[in-house]
Amino acid sequence: MDIIEKALKDHSLNKTEITELLRLKDAAPLYAAADVVRKKYVGDEVHLRGLIEFSNICKQNCLYCGLRRDNKKVKRYRLSAEEIIKLAENAKNYGYKTVVLQSGEDSFYDADKMTYIIKKIKALDLALTLSLGEKTFEEYRIYREAGADRYLLRIETTDKSLYERLDPGMSFENRLRCLKDLKELGYEVGSGIMAGLPGQSEDSIAEDILFMKNLPVHMAGIGPFIAHPDTPLGEEKKNNFEIALRTMAVTRLLMPLINIPATTAMEALDKDGRLKALQSGANVVMPNVTEGEVRKLYILYPGKICTGETPSVCRGCIENKIKAAGRSIGLGKGVSKAYVYDKSEETL
Ligand code: 5AD
Ligand code: SF4
Ligand code: FES
Repeated sequence: MDIIEKALKDHSLNKTEITELLRLKDAAPLYAAADVVRKKYVGDEVHLRGLIEFSNICKQNCLYCGLRRDNKKVKRYRLSAEEIIKLAENAKNYGYKTVVLQSGEDSFYDADKMTYIIKKIKALDLALTLSLGEKTFEEYRIYREAGADRYLLRIETTDKSLYERLDPGMSFENRLRCLKDLKELGYEVGSGIMAGLPGQSEDSIAEDILFMKNLPVHMAGIGPFIAHPDTPLGEEKKNNFEIALRTMAVTRLLMPLINIPATTAMEALDKDGRLKALQSGANVVMPNVTEGEVRKLYILYPGKICTGETPSVCRGCIENKIKAAGRSIGLGKGVSKAYVYDKSEETL
């Protein structure tokens, strides 16, 4: 197929061409091409990130999300600084080289508390990713100075009117401002989208992919939208696995050097979802290392995997899956090659 051949050669496509790939009758050649690009540019290593979900309290009200503030059915929790640091230590003992701290938008963790946590975790010689939502430039600056290496903030969709409809009270401009600030502060920046949102077309997803290429992001997390029954979008029935996988594969064709996780949400819709993702462009997996009762309480969408397993079970499970796929576990911190490239350009 010549669009795929062009992408393999130039890693550049226009919006119409991307839309065509997203609508292919048979996506097998797209997946195979993404796998070739992944192998050539980022190799066979799969980088693991230990995910710590430290608070499910959120002041936002995104229509799609199970943690939205109006969902009164959620039992809310916050972990203490010491509990969070302990989970990071445990992650290190399981062999993780990176931990990701994720939470709802919870102002309880102010700059002082976060600085304390970040410094303690950095003293463990781990790479540290934050995923705490929208903050001020000043807050992002403080976290960065305390030692945070990376930040994840999905754009969710680049369709401004769709974004503001789905995230009431939030502004698309502020989301862009956050991503710009994070880049300026020298973070390794991850963004991403949900594929299959109600009101989102393939055209719109093509714009999202081009947005990420132009920013440019160092990492792109792409997952299917999954309807949560206790949200206003609870009735949406579509299965979005296929569109998410296609979006991810095209993203790899156009951004050969970035990190792409095989997202947990993919496996919620398909029992081999992460394996399929790893064979269609992905090179990262983010197993959950949160322990205890709260592990079941961070439910953005239904069908979340691994809520009944322990971090140690997941560590073994994911290692087996990666090896069975003929891949190896990343030995280093798994810094995005796109980030290394970006930094080298800056110093030229
Ligand atoms: N389905 C899939 N992904 C979701 N997220 C939130 N709610 C859902 C849902 N219902 C994603 C958003 C957010 C990330 C942490 O989880 O993209 O950025
Ligand atoms: Fe809060 Fe994030 Fe869920 Fe929106 S997607 S309600 S910001 S946790
Ligand atoms: Fe958790 Fe397989 S990664 S059970």
